[in-house]
Amino acid sequence: MSLSEIEAQLSEVQQRAIADISAAATLDELDQVRVKYLGKKGDLSKVLGGMGKLSAEERPQVGALANQAKTALQSRLEQCKTDLQSAQIQAQLAAETIDVTMPGVYQPQGRIHPINSIIDQITDIFVGLGYTVAQSQEIESDYYNFEALNFLPDHPARDMQDTLYLPGGQLMRTHTSNTQIRYMENHQPPMRVLASGRCYRRDTVDATHAAVFHQIEFFAVDKDITFTDLRGTVQLFLNALFGDIEVRFRPSYFPFTEPSAEVDVRWQGQWLEVMGCGMVDPNVLKAVGCDPEVYSGFAAGLGVERLAMVQSKIDDIRRLYSSDLRFLRQF
Ligand code: DAH
Repeated sequence: MSLSEIEAQLSEVQQRAIADISAAATLDELDQVRVKYLGKKGDLSKVLGGMGKLSAEERPQVGALANQAKTALQSRLEQCKTDLQSAQIQAQLAAETIDVTMPGVYQPQGRIHPINSIIDQITDIFVGLGYTVAQSQEIESDYYNFEALNFLPDHPARDMQDTLYLPGGQLMRTHTSNTQIRYMENHQPPMRVLASGRCYRRDTVDATHAAVFHQIEFFAVDKDITFTDLRGTVQLFLNALFGDIEVRFRPSYFPFTEPSAEVDVRWQGQWLEVMGCGMVDPNVLKAVGCDPEVYSGFAAGLGVERLAMVQSKIDDIRRLYSSDLRFLRQF
């Protein structure tokens, strides 16, 4: 190979290298370009491989040219590397910029609605007494809402004026007592059960009545359960919820309990009714295939809205459902 050929090759390699250096978009690519041209087996070395055939005077000339080319490429590489590095840092800075003076995103803190709050408190008390939490449906049949609970066929609660019936004969449960039947059908005593949920009645809405409201039902069935167990449980529960409060039992009537009672608490100088209760009627036990000669039980149902109103001094039940933040923020 002649001197001029080598010179031509050198300048060709140099031009290609310069183009490749400019085209490198990342530091990795740039390094590949460096290896390709300046590496031990790189293009520059290959050209110089042809030097052996040159004369002794020509060799230093080529050597000098090659060194020039090498130095030129190295400084280009170095320059390009610095550019890419600073571009990378700029991009990272732009991507990670935090403007600490920007206003934060306001996340208002939610609160537990007074109804859910009291259900939680009551559930906690009964879970502490070893009760199981159960649920049953809100769309119910006459059987589970009334018949199995020993309501007579002509009982006024069944009336269209009181109960919301659905097309097809189903109804919206009027109380959580349907849970007694549903649960006892599928479980054997001993049992201690708590169930809370929505109930529906065809009531005219006023300060103390809502068409949709909540009840909590609790019941226990076992051998040798007596009215004393009911009294003790109710007293313990009301003290846990309201503190040291006076409690009284008044005789009452429910189709599904015998005897039955209503329970009042002394609250701000007045007796306030908070629940109905009684000993599970033998007919109810029979309806679920439980022998009333062997087992007995007690049951009670409480109006959740009533308790929430007493606990939080709320004057009108409608406030609980008005979604008025000025009201709800107080809890
Ligand atoms: N279900 C009754 C009502 O809605 C409340 C009730 C009373 C439930 C006595 C009971 C009970 O379990 O024993 O008025």
